[in-house]
Amino acid sequence: MKFTATILSLAIAALAFTEAAPTGPAHSGHEIPLVRKENHKKNFRSAMSKLANRYPELNLSVPRPIHSDAVGVGKVPLTDVGTDSEYYGSVSVGTPAQTVRLDFDTGSSDIWFPTTSCTTSACKSHKQFNSAKSSTYKKDGRKWTISYGDGSSASGILGSDMVSVGGVSVRQTIGLATSESSQFAQSPEDGLFGLGFDTIESVQGVKTFMDNAIAANALKKPVVSAYLPSVRRNGGKGGAYIFGDIDTTKYTGNLTYVPVTRKGYWQIAITGASYNNKSLKQSSQGIIDTGTTLIIIGTSAAAAVHKNIKGAVNDAEVGGWTVPCSIANSKDTIGFTMGGKSFKVPVADLAWSPVDSAGKTCYSGVQGGQDGLWILGDVFIKNNYCVFSQTSNPSIGIAPLK
Ligand SMILES: *[C@@H]1O[C@H](CO)[C@@H](O)[C@H](O)[C@H]1NC(C)=O
Ligand SMILES: *[C@@H]1O[C@H](CO)[C@@H](O)[C@H](O)[C@H]1NC(C)=O
Ligand SMILES: *[C@@H]1O[C@H](CO)[C@@H](O)[C@H](O)[C@H]1NC(C)=O
Repeated sequence: MKFTATILSLAIAALAFTEAAPTGPAHSGHEIPLVRKENHKKNFRSAMSKLANRYPELNLSVPRPIHSDAVGVGKVPLTDVGTDSEYYGSVSVGTPAQTVRLDFDTGSSDIWFPTTSCTTSACKSHKQFNSAKSSTYKKDGRKWTISYGDGSSASGILGSDMVSVGGVSVRQTIGLATSESSQFAQSPEDGLFGLGFDTIESVQGVKTFMDNAIAANALKKPVVSAYLPSVRRNGGKGGAYIFGDIDTTKYTGNLTYVPVTRKGYWQIAITGASYNNKSLKQSSQGIIDTGTTLIIIGTSAAAAVHKNIKGAVNDAEVGGWTVPCSIANSKDTIGFTMGGKSFKVPVADLAWSPVDSAGKTCYSGVQGGQDGLWILGDVFIKNNYCVFSQTSNPSIGIAPLK
């Protein structure tokens, strides 16, 4: 499970981020102070382990087969795990195709999963890619490693093979894990599929799937569109990532394209936040991160949001803000302004997961502690259609879901 940014990615990102570097990886060696904390996702780890205890047997139904709608368009149906805590889809690797379940993540850029030579229990509990059985596999030889802020890690070697999502197929450098820490044993997906920019690849110079697909003209449009299902909205069904196209039937009005301010994560300016349309006088740089479950904003912004919710408490024992689970019936909204438009998240979605057996108190879907770089995770994306547009001036198209 990916709850934390990688320490390694951050170290590389610190070297790699440059303002206004529209082409190619800019590993210029300039150090730019990073605002993202390495442990930014761990403040809901306790909630996640409670969730795992609550649902010891997460029903991991076999994903529907991959299909392609048209040339240059790959649609990957998603499986919603638990109560919208994470999502995975199927990816084909090699020839003949071996299928792995990957968590599509705009907050990182590596593609990785276990290989057959990995003997740790975490690898054994997942699909293991057998490179010897793929006629298109090519050795790379470089070592690869990724470490997460919660102490989990994976390492191995890089290789390259044909990677196919919903019929869009490119030769891609992949991380083959030969070792995985025990934390991954419980994760429903086999690995990750990074949708971030190449500047935060763990190994410098590796191109992302989107880089390669765009260069190969394999996509109708240089976009990945995220439609995340939600248990509350549609029973957790029907979600999909679309590579190369936009499903205009899923949202209302027009997409608002918000320019990316820094290429690494999908970073944008959040110019305002509101509660029932009333400004909270808060703003920040932020990222839209499909690999983070919740919305994690600045300390004072989280306090300003919860001030409006009767019974909300910042509970050190639980490790974050809690709210009465009864707000699941609330009609209130929180707004985040981007590109001049306010995008709403229903306060009902803040009743994310009960923290007590009585089901009275819920862990809030909005948490604080991410000062300087807010993270709009799945709680935001499952209410707003997001199009990650990787043109030479990248942007994120956003519109409220129908
Ligand atoms: C798990 O999902 C499958 C397929 O959707 C369904 O047939 C089965 O009844 C589910 N099992 C449980 C325990 O919910
Ligand atoms: C969407 O954009 C089109 C073309 O610019 C415009 O005609 C239309 O009014 C817009 N629709 C909404 C709901 O803003
Ligand atoms: C907030 O503004 C929207 C759009 O103008 C409106 O539809 C909605 O009713 C407003 N909500 C509240 C609580 O005022």
